[in-house]
Amino acid sequence: MRPADRIAVALDVPTLAEAEALAATLTGHVGWFKVGLELFVAHGPDAVAAVGAHGPVFLDLKLHDIPTTVARAVRTAAGAGAGLLTVHAAGGPTMLRAAVEAAAADVRLVAVTVLTSLGAEDLAALALPPAAARVPNLARLAVDAGVDALVCAPADLDGVRAAVGAAPLLITPGIRPDPARVDDHARALGPAEAVAAGADLLVVGRPITRAGDPAAAADAIAAALG
Ligand code: C5P
Repeated sequence: MRPADRIAVALDVPTLAEAEALAATLTGHVGWFKVGLELFVAHGPDAVAAVGAHGPVFLDLKLHDIPTTVARAVRTAAGAGAGLLTVHAAGGPTMLRAAVEAAAADVRLVAVTVLTSLGAEDLAALALPPAAARVPNLARLAVDAGVDALVCAPADLDGVRAAVGAAPLLITPGIRPDPARVDDHARALGPAEAVAAGADLLVVGRPITRAGDPAAAADAIAAALG
């Protein structure tokens, strides 16, 4: 894998025009274009097609519903041209197996473990175990169901790798090349540190998309990965 291929840039912008312009600028400088809910709710499969004209699409819909509904959504997303698609591991084994079956060889499934926005108090209020226990459990469950990749916070990389072994692709957001500019991430990690901790793919948004020169910002991250 080229270092640049380890970068998934989050195209968190409100309009398709902005997403396409960024994708055009970043073609060849990153491995994936992450299309999230904002863009997908506004533009649907057109967003996948438009961005997909510039490179592989990582469709971050975090699907979580009854197995049949998720399976149908997975088929539709695969048909739209997504290469990676997120589902919530918390949907459970039956939902995950249905998603895996629906994905077949057409799209790779990525299971989200615990959202880093859920703090210890939120998890307790939901009567859920702390993240340190819940994340490896969800990771194992998703991999046992046949999911190819997992999303986890930088701090959870060690525990997840220990739980699932070398094969699954680990994807992590919260990457900050400049420790002085972490935005809203409570525990950010530098790109090289994240890869050293076991990440395969880094989700990077604002450090690239809000840079004066997004391509140069992506190149600097790739260079840090060696
Ligand atoms: O701009 P920034 O690099 O923070 O963007 C990170 C991307 O990763 C956003 O699209 C955000 O929704 C996503 N993400 C995150 N933290 C999580 C899960 C997803 O930042 N725990």
